[in-house]
Amino acid sequence: MGRLDGKVALITGGEGSLGMATARLFTAEGAQVMLAGIDEERLRAGGAELGCAWTVADVSDSGQVQAAVRAVIERFARLDVVVSNAGVFGVVAPVVDYPDDVFDRVLAVHVRGTFLVCKHALPVMSDGGSVIITSSVVGLTSDAGVGAYATAKHALVGLMRTVAKEVAPRGIRVNTIHPGPVDNDFQRAVETAATGAPAEEAAALFNAHIPLARHAIPEEVGRVILFLAGDDSSFVTGSPIPVDGGMSI
Ligand SMILES: NC(=O)c1ccc[n+]([C@@H]2O[C@H](COP(=O)([O-])OP(=O)(O)OC[C@H]3O[C@@H](n4cnc5c(N)ncnc54)[C@H](O)[C@@H]3O)[C@@H](O)[C@H]2O)c1
Repeated sequence: MGRLDGKVALITGGEGSLGMATARLFTAEGAQVMLAGIDEERLRAGGAELGCAWTVADVSDSGQVQAAVRAVIERFARLDVVVSNAGVFGVVAPVVDYPDDVFDRVLAVHVRGTFLVCKHALPVMSDGGSVIITSSVVGLTSDAGVGAYATAKHALVGLMRTVAKEVAPRGIRVNTIHPGPVDNDFQRAVETAATGAPAEEAAALFNAHIPLARHAIPEEVGRVILFLAGDDSSFVTGSPIPVDGGMSI
């Protein structure tokens, strides 16, 4: 018996590192998965690896999100789990120098994107379903230079708490997860930009701020998403859950 037998999941940013790590765990636990994202080549490769469905959808575009949700229902006739995970980092710059257009884009992908995913998915989701939103350790804390990303990731907590109360009467649970640094390309780009150091040195500088003194592997984040997706977390809703090796303590 898989922990997600009979469930259907939509994962945005599904072609990326955490999206694919989550999709691997979900399919291994019996779920049928639709990956949604903007990188068609990686979506196709992910779909082929897992034998799962995929669709191109920019989460900041209402019509494209609506079409992605419709594609899930047309293909699987239900939707139980939504992982709103698509993300972009932006740049490292103090607020006084932060480019307006990059600020707008970062908020559009994370905040508008998650708003649109909730808006279009919730009406067709099964009662008792689960929404998991990928925020960040900087959705709980922040650092100089990450104004757009930290603002967006904090905003997701407000959205999550609101939606959690709105859909609780249907037994749908809504939570955010707050990963610390993950050993993947997304985080390597952040760390080299933030420190100006080569990747390995930059990672060591970040590890110095993490009580567990290391980065997560993508599957460690995926396993928390799996926990929130399934019945093991049946009384968990409205919770911002750190997955950060203690970085936000
Ligand atoms: N990597 C980390 O250390 C880390 C830490 C905390 C939080 N996060 C968050 O985890 C999530 C996944 O990141 P990741 O580490 O897997 O990086 P990633 O770059 O591998 O994955 C992000 C995915 O989002 C997709 N995407 C970007 N813009 C999109 C859009 N407009 N519409 C749809 N898809 C879009 C990208 O194509 C990519 O596949 C992001 O929200 C990120 O902010 C990552």
